[in-house]
Order: sequence, then C-alpha cells, then structure tokens
Amino acid sequence: MPKLLIASDHAGFELKEQLERALRERGYDVEDLGTDSEASTDYPDYAHPLAERVSRGDVERGVLLCGTGLGMSYTANRYPHVRAAVAWNAEVARLAREHNDANVLVLPARFVSPEQGLEILTTWLDTEFAGGRHARRVEKIEKAEQESPS
Ligand code: RB5
Repeated sequence: MPKLLIASDHAGFELKEQLERALRERGYDVEDLGTDSEASTDYPDYAHPLAERVSRGDVERGVLLCGTGLGMSYTANRYPHVRAAVAWNAEVARLAREHNDANVLVLPARFVSPEQGLEILTTWLDTEFAGGRHARRVEKIEKAEQESPS
C-alpha cells in the first residue's frame, strides 16, 4: 500500500483519529503529522510540512483536516505541484481526482459526519485521474508560475 500523510488542527483532530484508524485497518501506511489533541493550534503549522513533502515528491498523497477545510487548502495550495481539494461529499471527492488530479484531500471536519468523512476519503483514494482533456487543464494551473520572471 502506498504511504499516506495525514494532519489536522484541533478542529479536525477527532475525525483525523477516526479516519486514521480506518485507514490502518484497510492496510494503508499512514504517517500522522499531528496535531495530537483538541488543544487549540494553528492550521498552517500542519499544512506546511505535509504540503512541502507532497510538493517535493517524497509522498504522493496527503489528507488535511480543519474546521472548514479552507485554511488548510489555502496553505497547501501555495506549494508547487500541490493540488489540495476541499471535498464535502463523495461526488466532489470523485471529481477532484477524476478531473483535477487532486493529490491532497482537505476535509471540512465541522461539516461532515465520521461516516461521510470516511466515504469522502475512500472515494478520493479509489478514483483515478481521467487524463485526456483534464491533463491539459491541470498542466495549465502552474503556467503563470513557470512563465513569471525570476
Ligand atoms: C479553527 O477554529 C478554524 O478556524 C480552523 O479549523 C479552520 O476552519 C480554518 O480554516
């Protein structure tokens, strides 16, 4: 099984623990980058290390959780090659893989039940990128960065 990174702030802590247990039961090699409790913390402190490792290709995929999913996605998407998608249901998770080749899944922990969270996660894990016209679009995402003068 490929390696998977997972991290959350305090708002996503409980769901992270539940999803992590479920993933391990399914045989995934999960590395937990924190947080370790429900004590208040800052989401960028967890999004940065995870996104940095996905960005440099150390790990293929990661999962981030915070209250809305927004702060984690803003932070992770600052890294080259990271495509962090907030998915609030399984259909969005499927499309995030199929159309957008999302390599980081971001869950809005305060807006999904544990059952919904697991369904979103497993759908995202089990869906392949469709390629074709979607590959052309995904390649264009990093166009501005590649063309900007240094
Ligand atoms: C924490 O209260 C909350 O702001 C955070 O989890 C997240 O929703 C930020 O985007």
